[in-house]
Amino acid sequence: MDIKFKFPEGFLWGSATSSYQVEGGIENCDWALEAKNGKVPFCGDACMHYSNYKDDFDIVESLGHNAHRMSVEWARIEPTEGVFDEKEIAHYREVIQNLKSRNLYVSLTIWHFTLPVWFYEKGGFEAGNGADVFTRYALKVIDSFSDIVDDFATINEPMVWTSNGYIHANWPPFKRTIKKHVDILNTLAKAHNNIYKKAKEKNKDLVIGVVKDNIYFEGKNFLTKKIAKFLTWFWNDRFLDKVAGNVDYIGLNYYFHSPILFKSNGDRTDMGWEIYPKGLYHMLMDLKKYNVPVTVAENGIADEGDTRRTEFIREHIRWVHKAIEDGVPVIGYSYWSLLDNYEWALGFKKRFGLVNVDYDTMERGIRNSAYAYKYICEHNGF
Ligand code: BGC
Repeated sequence: MDIKFKFPEGFLWGSATSSYQVEGGIENCDWALEAKNGKVPFCGDACMHYSNYKDDFDIVESLGHNAHRMSVEWARIEPTEGVFDEKEIAHYREVIQNLKSRNLYVSLTIWHFTLPVWFYEKGGFEAGNGADVFTRYALKVIDSFSDIVDDFATINEPMVWTSNGYIHANWPPFKRTIKKHVDILNTLAKAHNNIYKKAKEKNKDLVIGVVKDNIYFEGKNFLTKKIAKFLTWFWNDRFLDKVAGNVDYIGLNYYFHSPILFKSNGDRTDMGWEIYPKGLYHMLMDLKKYNVPVTVAENGIADEGDTRRTEFIREHIRWVHKAIEDGVPVIGYSYWSLLDNYEWALGFKKRFGLVNVDYDTMERGIRNSAYAYKYICEHNGF
């Protein structure tokens, strides 16, 4: 087969996970606490990736990936305020070293949504010293792993987290307050900037970025175009503008577009999100202005039957290729997710994985689409 869409040499191909969604056995974070309070589904053993990671990475290797994105769990590393658990740090070092022994590029996310209970109960980022508490933890993570990871992302999806927790009230801490949402977004940006500066003072060669969830807001007429422009600023740019200058790369998470006051009839994923691959192109083009490398840190589909995933991946990657042709310095693509996992307030029903997880037996089953993606990874295009 001819390779029509060839990617630059060294392009990073992989998939992503996050600690709470796959590891299992995390009982001391806000989500576990709120599950006990009946407010979110139980996560329990999740995919048992904490103990099963070697077998899962065998699959990663067999699928031809050359990169992997993962996160560490704050509540494991700092189970008590200011006290770091060296055993858990050693565990994550083994996990990362396992990936490195397979020659994979490792992108480590420092914080992916969950907070240790002690921090949550003190008010989390609402507490006056929230930014400092997070900075102390993040610097510990950077110190502990900088010799073995390739890049760090301080924060995953600040807007999704602040919106679900402080506007929609469907994630901890279940509040509805625009003011706090705005304040906390500012706190997160401030924390990121602190972490970046302090870590770089110690070691200027570190690669530190953020992972940002951007939505393609689309208007069709004068008024809706204006609304789309405002929402683009509000949702996509506001946070990035605050950290610009303090990021070595931007990780873009792209899932869907948002048509403003017009009907759009594309096929939908099991999440009900309309599939709109070209939106990824627009989002990449919009990031050009920040003048740093960009990686697609997450892009994926909940598709239990695996009937649309191959096409979904190909179409999105085709638009990544076009963005590169049009001058965006895209360095990687990471499919969300390696495994089916705990989809937050929706529990285990949604299946995003390249790999199916049977939650009764914990058996893994590689989906056909994973092989289609393998072809792309191994040929650096398709
Ligand atoms: C998050 C993941 C989540 C995925 C699908 C992103 O918002 O980073 O944790 O599972 O999208 O909803």
